[in-house]
Parts: sequence; structure tokens; C-alpha cells
Amino acid sequence: MKALVLSGGAGTRLRPFSYSMPKQLIPIVNKPVLVYVLEDIAALGVTEVAVIVGDRAAQITEALGDGSRFGVRVTTIHQDEPRGLAHCVELARPFLGDDDFVMYLGDNMLPDGITAIAEEFRSGRPAAQIVVHRVPDPRAFGVAELDAEGAVVALAEKPSRPRSDLALIGVYFFTSAIHEAVAAIEPSARGELEITDAIQWLLTHGHDVKAGEYGGYWKDTGKADDVLECNRHLLGMLRPRVEGDIDATSELIGPVVIESGARVVRSRIVGPAVIGAGTLVEDCRIGPDTSVARDCVLRATQLTDSIVMAGASITRVPGLHGSLIGRSANIGPSDHAEAHHRLVVGDHTHVEVAA
Ligand code: TTP
Repeated sequence: MKALVLSGGAGTRLRPFSYSMPKQLIPIVNKPVLVYVLEDIAALGVTEVAVIVGDRAAQITEALGDGSRFGVRVTTIHQDEPRGLAHCVELARPFLGDDDFVMYLGDNMLPDGITAIAEEFRSGRPAAQIVVHRVPDPRAFGVAELDAEGAVVALAEKPSRPRSDLALIGVYFFTSAIHEAVAAIEPSARGELEITDAIQWLLTHGHDVKAGEYGGYWKDTGKADDVLECNRHLLGMLRPRVEGDIDATSELIGPVVIESGARVVRSRIVGPAVIGAGTLVEDCRIGPDTSVARDCVLRATQLTDSIVMAGASITRVPGLHGSLIGRSANIGPSDHAEAHHRLVVGDHTHVEVAA
């Protein structure tokens, strides 16, 4: 079995981050989502992985290298524009040949692993095996209707009256039968080649489509709030580790990771929290539910339930909460009039100011 990871896309819901980075590189507990994806694929024993990339291939290559760190071999395939998930399958056809493959959306997190579902697929080899997850309100998702044996009888895209609570999530297993389906479908109303249309084509033409239920934690990290929620969830499993320096006046409470070269001075850190390598934390209160990446500088700041990306600096900001701070962002007191807020923020930035 091979793997196809989708790491292109527009990422409009994750602006402004997606203006400067592929959203699949957003860090969850200081590790890019895409790395979790590759680790999950490697756990299936799959070694040949193609990654679909958009404009920012260089950043993805920098993060993944040739894949050997994860025990896989990565090939990148460029997609000129986001033309749909089924378009990615079409682009990858020369790489995939007639092999079975797992298709994994590069912004989806399934930290409890998919090995059991992969085994089901490997033993039954249906034309497609979708992965479904029970959600409280399925109306925002593709929804699968199953018979008693777990075979899919119908798929509905964002139905107003869902016939089950089983949402399709970002992992699919296919045999080479999918290629005929992808070749047969037309772009949808939004102009994309939809993978659900290709799976529907398989159903209509009498192919076997199965569903495997994933009962673990799942998150599509396509939006800022979901990124923070996922970060909180994974921080909940943090094992404490201190490699950096903590001065005698600082206090660590609960599960805290201080990476090597980080310095904590006159500060209180409440876990779960991670302070990245080379970061300075001085006169701060950090956590809980917070991860700070490498090479940041935090001074006289209170920060909870947040993600701070590499190289950012935050000075004298009390009460920062639920925040996503981008790479090398600089936040601090005004050099000018004390009573004013001064913002130099990028397009589609979201700022909430305490009254
Ligand atoms: P989506 O999150 O559905 O699409 P998007 O990236 O365009 O996001 P937004 O709605 O915020 O604009 O895509 C799911 C995954 O598949 C994601 O990792 C991006 C990837 N993808 C591609 O690689 N190529 C494509 O043509 C599309 C549509 C998505």
C-alpha cells in the first residue's frame, strides 16, 4: 500500500497564517500537523508517500525532508490550484500506479491511529473504505448511511436531514478502482473534482464501498479555534520533561515541558504547557493549555490557552488568552502614546481587544 497526503489547498479559513505558510505546518504541541500525519502513515507500515503541495512546497520539504526521519520516502507532487481532492488522485496517478493506497488530508488529526481500519481494508479490499466518525451535528459534513454489515449504501454532502450521525473524516483507503471513477466525474458546482462524487460513482456502478468507524479523538485543524482545541487535547497527554534552565524564583506546576536551551526567569508556568528550545520566559505567568515554540521571547506577560509560533516576542501583555501568535510576530507596549493601541496586522487578521 502507498499513501497520498493532501497538503495543498487554499486554507482560507486559516488566514492570515495560510498567507505565509501551508496550514498543514501549523504546530500542535510544537509539532506540525503534517508530521503527525506522516507518523500515522508510517505506523501502517507504508513507506512510499506522495505529498500534494501548492505554492509553498519549499516549506513542506524543509519540514519533512526526504521522509527518512519518519521511516518513509516522500515524493512531492505540485498542484497548480486547489482543484479538489479527486484532482489530487488524478495528479498522483503516475506515482500510485495500480497500487492500493491510503489518502490522508494533511490538516486532519487522528492521534489515536488508524491501524485497525487499515487492517480491515487490507483484508477485505473493498474498492473504497471511508473512515467515519460520530459527530453531534452531522449537517456540516459528508454523511454516510450504512447497512448492518458496515457497507455504505448512500453518501450525502451536508444534508439538512442527515440519515446517520456518521461524518466522513479525512482518511480514505482505495484500490485502483478509484481511478476509473475519478476519470468519469465532472467538476462540482464549486468547480472542484469531489472525492465524494468519485465514491458515489463507485457505489452507483456496483463497487463495494465500506466504512470503518474511528472512535478516537479527531480534529480537522482548518480553523483557528479547532487548532487551539486540538492543542489543548494533545497537551492533555503531555509527559513532563525539563531540559532548559529554571531559576530559583520560578515555579513549574503540573505537566510542563521545558525544551533544551530555554530559560525561565522569575516566572510561574502551569501545565499542561510547553516552552520551546531557546525561548526566554521572564517575569511571566504561562499556562495552562499553552505551547510556546522555539526561539521566542516572552516578558512580563500572562498567557493561557494559546499557541505561540517560532521566533515570536511578547512583552508586557497581561491576560492573553485563546490566542494564536504567528512566527516572528512582535507584540508589546506602544513606543508612542500610552493610551493608544497601535496595530500593524496583516490581511484577514483577527484581533479582540479587552474593553
Ligand atoms: P480543505 O480544508 O477542504 O480545503 P482548503 O485547504 O481549500 O481550505 P479552506 O476551505 O479553508 O479554503 O482541504 C482538505 C485538505 O486537502 C487540506 O489539507 C488541503 C488539501 N487540498 C489539496 O491538497 N488540494 C485541493 O485541491 C484541495 C481542495 C484540498
